[in-house]
Amino acid sequence: MRRAVKPWLFQPSKRLIILLLSLALISLAILKLPLFHTDPKPVEVPVDPIYRERIHSYVREILAKECRPSFARQKMKTEHSRSTQVVEPFLDLNTHLNEQIFQYPPPFGFMNMKNKLQEILSLLPASSESGRGVRDCHRCVVVGNGGILKGLGLGHLLNQFDIVIRLNSGPVQDFSADVGNRTSIRMSYPESCPKVWEDMDSELKYVAVIYKSVDFHWLRAMITKTSISLWDWLFFWQKVPVSVPIKTSQFRLLNPEIIRETSSDLLHYPDARERLWGWDQNVPTLGVSALNLATYLCDEVSLAGFGYNLSQKEVTLHYYDDKPMTSMLKEAMHNVQTETVFLKRLVTSGSITDLTGGIHCKFCSS
Ligand SMILES: *[C@@H]1O[C@H](CO)[C@@H](O)[C@H](O)[C@H]1NC(C)=O
Ligand SMILES: *[C@@H]1O[C@H](CO)[C@@H](O)[C@H](O)[C@H]1NC(C)=O
Repeated sequence: MRRAVKPWLFQPSKRLIILLLSLALISLAILKLPLFHTDPKPVEVPVDPIYRERIHSYVREILAKECRPSFARQKMKTEHSRSTQVVEPFLDLNTHLNEQIFQYPPPFGFMNMKNKLQEILSLLPASSESGRGVRDCHRCVVVGNGGILKGLGLGHLLNQFDIVIRLNSGPVQDFSADVGNRTSIRMSYPESCPKVWEDMDSELKYVAVIYKSVDFHWLRAMITKTSISLWDWLFFWQKVPVSVPIKTSQFRLLNPEIIRETSSDLLHYPDARERLWGWDQNVPTLGVSALNLATYLCDEVSLAGFGYNLSQKEVTLHYYDDKPMTSMLKEAMHNVQTETVFLKRLVTSGSITDLTGGIHCKFCSS
């Protein structure tokens, strides 16, 4: 009897090839290797010129007012009575490390990472800077990466803030008309650090946020201008930059207490120690953590590019890409709703200002 010839795909010898190919594809998908990566390009978005002018005059008004020393921090303290004072927002060799830091896993602390921390601290500059002069009053703007910034032409006004804080890989070069081109502080974790460095400010500080133990290895490699081991590469869930072209003196390490305080005191999430595998929703976004950091570094704090305007259907998730707003829903790690409520309260009470109105629009009612 003649045996039926099996289709090509089902021949035993080919099965292994198919299996291996599928495995390769699946792991590519998991590792999100940027096979089809394209550079972000500015996209024209029509914005009502009257609305645009209203935003501009609102921001100019904020810049023209007299700056109130320690305003944002005082407000934060009175509105969140549990809010304990973080002594130093950045860590260096001179920082007195309280034991609490080693009781929490990252990003809330450095549990079981004492040696790694010491090693990094020995590489970082011992900061003599007290942050600012006694009499200076500093205005900060935390620039989020929201699509709401597109087409508003706020760049030249954002540049006028004393301290401009940017998050993750939010680009500046091709988008400076909308987001400005100054960066006083850029804050990220390894995977979200810009692959192409565009921040040209000589006063820039890069603030590293540690989410896992290999993040220390990456940071060490970036500071010492060496390469990370092949083994370490496996632990990053996305491609990480191989170099950060700034001086050692420009690196800072975020005090994880800033994130722990944001999570428990400001957002009232369950204790960070109770986090199990799979990231409960008690990890604040970098945006809200940066806002908390800003209240320590600056006297007055503004937000730009946070939230969204529901009547602008065409607005994308980020100012630099074409991803629709709906992709935000996949961000299961963060509790976006709780953060929005928290930010809205701060804006309505006047503790901080929202320049682009995506959280709460003060200039829309007029
Ligand atoms: C920002 O742009 C202005 C005008 O093009 C330029 O003079 C300035 O040097 C730029 N600043 C930075 C930090 O790139
Ligand atoms: C949303 O944007 C439109 C213009 O596109 C503006 O008229 C409206 O006031 C904005 N609303 C809010 C809440 O920002």
